[in-house]
Order: sequence, then C-alpha cells, then structure tokens
Amino acid sequence: MIVVCPSCQTRYELSDRLVQEPSFIARCTKCRHIFSAYRPVRIEEINFLDLDAAKGRKDLDNVVAISNQKGGVAKTSTCLNLGLSLALHQKRVLMIDFDVQANLTISLGYKETTSFYEVLNGSADSLEKFIVKTKYDNLSLFPSNKNMVLLNKKYFGARNFEFILKDRLLTIQEHYDYILIDTPPSIEFFTLNALTAARKVIIPSQCDYLSTHGIDQILKLIQLIKVKTNPNIEPRILITMFDKESTASKMICTKLKRLYPGLTYNTLIEMDPRIREAQIMSMPVLQYNQQSKAGLQYHRLAKELLGQLS
Ligand SMILES: Nc1ncnc2c1ncn2[C@@H]1O[C@H](COP(=O)(O)OP(=O)(O)OP(=O)(O)O)[C@@H](O)[C@H]1O
Ligand SMILES: [Mg+2]
Repeated sequence: MIVVCPSCQTRYELSDRLVQEPSFIARCTKCRHIFSAYRPVRIEEINFLDLDAAKGRKDLDNVVAISNQKGGVAKTSTCLNLGLSLALHQKRVLMIDFDVQANLTISLGYKETTSFYEVLNGSADSLEKFIVKTKYDNLSLFPSNKNMVLLNKKYFGARNFEFILKDRLLTIQEHYDYILIDTPPSIEFFTLNALTAARKVIIPSQCDYLSTHGIDQILKLIQLIKVKTNPNIEPRILITMFDKESTASKMICTKLKRLYPGLTYNTLIEMDPRIREAQIMSMPVLQYNQQSKAGLQYHRLAKELLGQLS
C-alpha cells in the first residue's frame, strides 16, 4: 500500500501484511508530520453487513455521498463546490465531513472543531448541536477532526455499525434539502455508513488509465451495499479534472461513457488551477472566482442534480 504524507507529499510504500488495523497513525520521517493513514479494507473482508437491519428504516432521499476509494479524485472539492452551488440555488444544504483528514473542514477555514466522534462519545444525542453555520447563506457544515480515527477502531465491524450515521440523520434530515457526505479514500466505518445512508452516490473520477479500476471497485462495493443495507442506492460517475487539451483524457472519457452507459453525469469538471488557488484561500471556487471554469461546471452539476438542465 502507498501512504502519502499530507504535509510534504512524501510517498511511502508499506507491505499490507505489516498493517493489521484498518487505520493507523503514521509519522513522516522527512517532515515529522503526524497523520492518519489507512490500510485499504478489501471488499472480500466485508462479510458482516446485516441483511435484515435495513428493513423498517426509511430511505433518506435527500442524502448524497461523494465516494471513491481512489485518493485525490476531487471528492472533497466536489462536496464543497456542489454544496455552495446548491445553496446558491436557495437549497438548504448540510455538508458532512466524514473523513479523518478533515479536508472539507479545513477548506472552509475551520480548525479545532468537534466531529462525529464527540457526538458518539458525548451526552448529546442529536447532531444539531455540532452543526456549524458557515458564512454562506443556506450552507451548514458538520465538521471532522482527528478523533474520528478512533471511531473506526471502536465500531468497524460491530453489529449494525453501518446504520449509525443514518439513524442520526433520520432525526435532522427534514431541516435540509440536501445532505452531502464527503468520504475518505478507503472502505471502512465512514464509507460504509455514508453509503448506507445515501440515496445517491457521486463517484468522482479522473480520466487517468487506472480510473476504471477505481470505479469498478466502488461499483462492486455499492452492489454489496444494495443487497445488504441500502437497496435503493443510485450511483453516478462524475468526470473530474478533465484536460481537454489531452488526447489521453479524451480517450479515457469516451471509454468511461462506453463502459458505464447511463451512469455518467453529462456535466464534467475540467482541470482548473482556480480550484487549488481557492483552496489556499480557504474558500469554495465559486466564491473565489464566480466565472471560473470549474465553478460554472459545478453550477451545471447542481442543475443536473436538481433536474433543471434544459
Ligand atoms: N477541477 C480541478 N482542477 C484542478 N485541480 C483540482 C480540481 N479538482 C480538485 N483539484 C485539486 O486536486 C487535489 C485533490 O482534490 P480533493 O482533495 O478534492 O480530492 P479527494 O478525492 O477529496 O482527495 P482524498 O482522497 O485525499 O480525500 C486538491 O489539491 C484539489 O485542489
Ligand atoms: Mg477528500
């Protein structure tokens, strides 16, 4: 497995056999940064999802998970920019940062926040108390912090653990038109909870030569989720970081549309340096530059989700 230090981007190759826990704390020997890392859980290891637990729980039609086990494919960027775009369309939006890396939380400029860990380990039984109203109208955030790594340890594999988020969302979902969940690049507590809660899944995918492998993996997982915990889940692929000058990018885009007919959003998100600039400024690209290419494409994606594209 490859572990990348999020601070200095140094890559380490570890043997899967050396790491038994699904997630662990690593220390970069180059820059000394301490960070959470994951051993990828294999789909074959997931043999505990409870077939009967889904019965009697209603669907959360307004919940959308953004998921792909492949890292760096724009899951967080999509959550943030789609979230703001829906909010600008006068929809009440809650974004849930369900990733220990807390990139969504950090992208909005928040530090030292609470997280789902504090919900499960505190006295409050509602998520409401922990939701932050962002400076953008209609846009709220349920933040993340490093404590989240402990949830994986405590709950992953426990009976009905995959319904923990859904059961909490059932109590607050009517306050929002859309609840978007940003997930980590791995399968475990967070992704299985998000996929069990969501009605729709957006699978961001870059047009690189390994993208079909990532999509096959997540579709295989969604098929398992469909059979076990969430029969009505609907996946759709979103092409991100598309480089229209690159022949390879265009070839892979065509291949994805052919391999997954009807599963791909019409909107695609192009490579746009404004996304990274906006991230440095701790703001969504739509606020950083309203006319940015990617910003306008995220607006288009919001319209497609809302069924408003003509
Ligand atoms: N359309 C785009 N054009 C250029 N850069 C982009 C675009 N979308 C995302 N990026 C950049 O790519 C990097 C990865 O994006 P992001 O963090 O959203 O991916 P992710 O899938 O959430 O990653 P992880 O798997 O680590 O959670 C970030 O530096 C982000 O700024
Ligand atoms: Mg992310």
